[in-house]
Amino acid sequence: MLMITGATGALGKLVTARLADREDVVVGTRTPGPGGRRVDFDDPSSLDFTGVDTLLVISAGAAEDDVVAARHEAVISAAEKAGVGHLVYTSLSGDGDHLTYALAHRWTERRLRRSTLNWTVLRNGLYAEFLAAIAAPGPDGTIAAPLGDGRLAAVAREDLADVAVRVATDPAPHAGRTYELVGEQPLGGADLARALGGRYEPGTLAATREAITAAGQALPFQVPMLLSTYSAIAGGFLDGTGIENNQLRALLGRAPRNALDVYAKTVRG
Ligand SMILES: NC(=O)c1ccc[n+]([C@@H]2O[C@H](COP(=O)([O-])OP(=O)(O)OC[C@H]3O[C@@H](n4cnc5c(N)ncnc54)[C@H](OP(=O)(O)O)[C@@H]3O)[C@@H](O)[C@H]2O)c1
Repeated sequence: MLMITGATGALGKLVTARLADREDVVVGTRTPGPGGRRVDFDDPSSLDFTGVDTLLVISAGAAEDDVVAARHEAVISAAEKAGVGHLVYTSLSGDGDHLTYALAHRWTERRLRRSTLNWTVLRNGLYAEFLAAIAAPGPDGTIAAPLGDGRLAAVAREDLADVAVRVATDPAPHAGRTYELVGEQPLGGADLARALGGRYEPGTLAATREAITAAGQALPFQVPMLLSTYSAIAGGFLDGTGIENNQLRALLGRAPRNALDVYAKTVRG
């Protein structure tokens, strides 16, 4: 049996859609439909992985570090206890250590290395769809995201779903491997503006922090998350040059999707 957690999330939906014709796949989610299982990392009583050969753990990262670490500790412990054959974890690319949300991913990777499980770590780069969310144009068509002259090696979420499916459906050759999965075409603010026919006038981090706070939609921990993302891109840390062994193309077995097209399509809705 192959179980997928986080199955109703954006990445999880893409993964489960690709596995829809397989009878041995079980969807694990906090809100299961028919045939699904309730899996809530915050509720240890829901973490029964008896009979699971492979567990694809889609990180549940939208929370404070202590919460995410506790969630991932709970799921790894439960997998060990149930004798799960192989755990595949979606992490963050190795060049992302300056991001505030890197810590919980690295904590989880370390916990996996110390576990009794066979494991594979998929170090996913930031999504082109995420870039569309954080660097969307304003009403006048101007992109004001504080990316400076920096670029992001964004990757299409669909490509990451393809890799996750490939690894999770035949995990043995990938045991003990940590794969870097980032885009091949780094995108900067000027590239994004060109694709949309608009302008790029980067704001400052201070102005952006103020705007995010004033909008009142971000939870307190999300403000530094977003600011560290802009800062790391602007600082040139996420343009892909810091990744020594990008495995995206090899694991896809083809060229990656065009991240700029995905960005533009996502912005246009
Ligand atoms: N690389 C990037 O650009 C990027 C951007 C954003 C986030 N991420 C990370 O990658 C993960 C997957 O991305 P995504 O786009 O699919 O995010 P998403 O749409 O926010 O989905 C995340 C999923 O995490 C699951 N989750 C949350 N709390 C949980 C809990 N207590 N127990 C079990 N599952 C829980 C939920 O699944 P259910 O509702 O099915 O239970 C949720 O749908 C995120 O969680 C985050 O850690 C990466």
